[in-house]
Amino acid sequence: MAPMMLVLLAAVAGVAVAADVPCRPMQELYPSGKELCERMWDGAFVYETDLSRAYTMWFFERDNPNDKVSHKLGKTPPNKCYLQYLHKTVPGPEPDNFTECHPWKNRACCRQQTVSSPEKIIQNYGPEWRWDRCGTLSAACERFFVQEACFYECDPNAGLYRMYSDKDFDASNPRHNKWQIEGMPIRADYCDSWWAACRNDLFCALEQGNHYVCAAEYEKADGQGYFYTLVKSIVSWFTQ
Ligand SMILES: *[C@@H]1O[C@H](CO)[C@@H](O)[C@H](O)[C@H]1NC(C)=O
Repeated sequence: MAPMMLVLLAAVAGVAVAADVPCRPMQELYPSGKELCERMWDGAFVYETDLSRAYTMWFFERDNPNDKVSHKLGKTPPNKCYLQYLHKTVPGPEPDNFTECHPWKNRACCRQQTVSSPEKIIQNYGPEWRWDRCGTLSAACERFFVQEACFYECDPNAGLYRMYSDKDFDASNPRHNKWQIEGMPIRADYCDSWWAACRNDLFCALEQGNHYVCAAEYEKADGQGYFYTLVKSIVSWFTQ
């Protein structure tokens, strides 16, 4: 290949290299479970040490303990699904094969088709939101991402923390949405366990591990497309 051509290809590939998003072990991004819960999810969740006033992303009881938490916080567990992403409009039972998000089987805002397995869940939000963009997570760590997704999609109480409530929602404002939550108190011990399980796993390092900032950057990088990836691999083949 002519040297001039190689220089040109390297310049083009430089764009794609710049778009590469850095990865770091989660214990370097988040000093503790507090930063993991709060920063990773861009303020959707708040680390709460008073466990009687904090929601859990998973449970083993027959009745959802988050309903009691809502009462304790002076709210009513909703009989509607206020969040709208893949959610139903009202909570209800799911079929017998509803196993992945089983705690919510009797009363869920999610549908079996959308949460049938981790492989299904990880595809739900587009490639930029995948939790394995820095490589496959350990099983111990991935479990927490699955639980968070079940909690977000299935628990009616999450709808109490919608960023733009029905009252405030303005469909003509492009910043408004029906999927985002804000300031939902999560049990500190749950966040600490998540951190303990994930501390050695790699995650996107932008803004010290802000999943939302990372997703926006991955979307841009992915948009540069197949051509740049191809050029980059040709250049690396010639320059190795
Ligand atoms: C689960 O059960 C429902 C209803 O019985 C069915 O429609 C669905 O195909 C089953 N399988 C999965 C993987 O959702």
